[in-house]
Amino acid sequence: MSKNKNNQAIWGNRIKKNTSSIFQKVGNSIDVDKRLYKEDIIGSIAHVEMLFKQKIISFKIKNKIVYGLNKIKKEITNKKFEFNKKYEDIHINIEKRLFEIIGEDAGFIHTARSRNDQVITDLKIWMKSSTKEINILLDIVIKSVIRAAEKNIYTLMPGFTHLKNAQPVSFGHYLMAYVEMFKRDQKRLINNLDSLNENPLGVAALTGTSFNIDRNYTTKKLGFTKPTNNSIDTISDRDFVLDFLYSISVCAMHISRIAEELIIWNSDAFKLINLSDKVVTGSSIMPQKKNPDLLEFLRGKSGIIYGNLFSMLTVLKSLPLSYYKDLQDDKEIVFKSNDTLQNCLKILDEILKNFTPNKKQMIELANTGYLTATDLADYLVKNHSMPFRKAYKVTANIVNFAEKKKKNLDQLTLAELKKIEPKLSNDVLKVFDLKNSVNSKKSYGGTSFDNIKKMILKYKKKK
Ligand code: ARG
Repeated sequence: MSKNKNNQAIWGNRIKKNTSSIFQKVGNSIDVDKRLYKEDIIGSIAHVEMLFKQKIISFKIKNKIVYGLNKIKKEITNKKFEFNKKYEDIHINIEKRLFEIIGEDAGFIHTARSRNDQVITDLKIWMKSSTKEINILLDIVIKSVIRAAEKNIYTLMPGFTHLKNAQPVSFGHYLMAYVEMFKRDQKRLINNLDSLNENPLGVAALTGTSFNIDRNYTTKKLGFTKPTNNSIDTISDRDFVLDFLYSISVCAMHISRIAEELIIWNSDAFKLINLSDKVVTGSSIMPQKKNPDLLEFLRGKSGIIYGNLFSMLTVLKSLPLSYYKDLQDDKEIVFKSNDTLQNCLKILDEILKNFTPNKKQMIELANTGYLTATDLADYLVKNHSMPFRKAYKVTANIVNFAEKKKKNLDQLTLAELKKIEPKLSNDVLKVFDLKNSVNSKKSYGGTSFDNIKKMILKYKKKK
């Protein structure tokens, strides 16, 4: 192999044979990490500017390199760049092209750095912007949930525990529960920025470097807040990847919960919501079908996203410090989780804009199963100074009686009620009213109409 041939491996003078062709074919990561080209070029420019500032390279060479890198950026953006699997990854592909454009001076670019710190720098920059993108999508979803909640403050429905009718709630309140969940998702992603903001560039292969580099300079240039502390840890660390994958998993889990609820409510057994034709699909054989495929897609994808988290945890398990090829797969995992979640958030938003509650059926269901029994027990405590446990027993007897008579609680006469609890008077009847029940839950965070309005207002003001 001749020395200066650009198409030979960077390590061609040391390793005399071509790498086994099967490994060249499957061991490269260019198809995946070419997505990092912008970050790689931004990182390299900051690096050479620092090398120049520190008098490690000349002004002329710095300018040549920056010129070449900007040209490469344009080529890639305009799809004029030929990625070559032989050069393994985005870093070597760009470096090789730089040699073609500016000649031997390109060789100065890799002074005082390694692909090991380079790749983490690229990935962290990429993840910081994808964190922003996810948070923007979450903002959009949150807005849509709030809009639906606002329209349904007075829509009454059964709240469930154990999927059994429990107590009446406002559908608006129900929806606002998801706002809390998605807000927490945003917070979790933002908390991850602490470690994403530590700059890995300059730790080189694993030890740091003997060149007089300025890591604070690249930190500032690249929008990080401080350099990482320990070179060996920096190369080995993928905790920031796990944090990201976990945060995405939790968000996907929230999406799967709302998806599952909407699937149940859309079922022919529940009929609590209607999905517009825009968010259902048909059957190939049953002409009458309108299936909630989009919701099922969302429910399923949470499983795939958890799988990615577990893939990464397993890759890292027992891995000695510092760089190993095992780590190369981190990017594919991150991209897959990110893309899947972003698509899920977009689909969820479509669904939120394309469903309506079936208010009549919601009330009908809320009238089944003695949902105001707890209100009656509370009434006995408040109006007849009964200990709650006694009130519970009296109420249970009244429910048993109503069940025997095949009546709802609000269909019982005062005379019937008095047979079980003689202290009762006419005004007890109002506790069986669903609206009264919902509106009586005025404790902070409860389902009363005023509470919901205040909460909606609070979130609308925040953004
Ligand atoms: N493409 C590699 C990766 O993503 C870059 C780091 C390569 N370092 C090395 N020592 N082989 O992991």
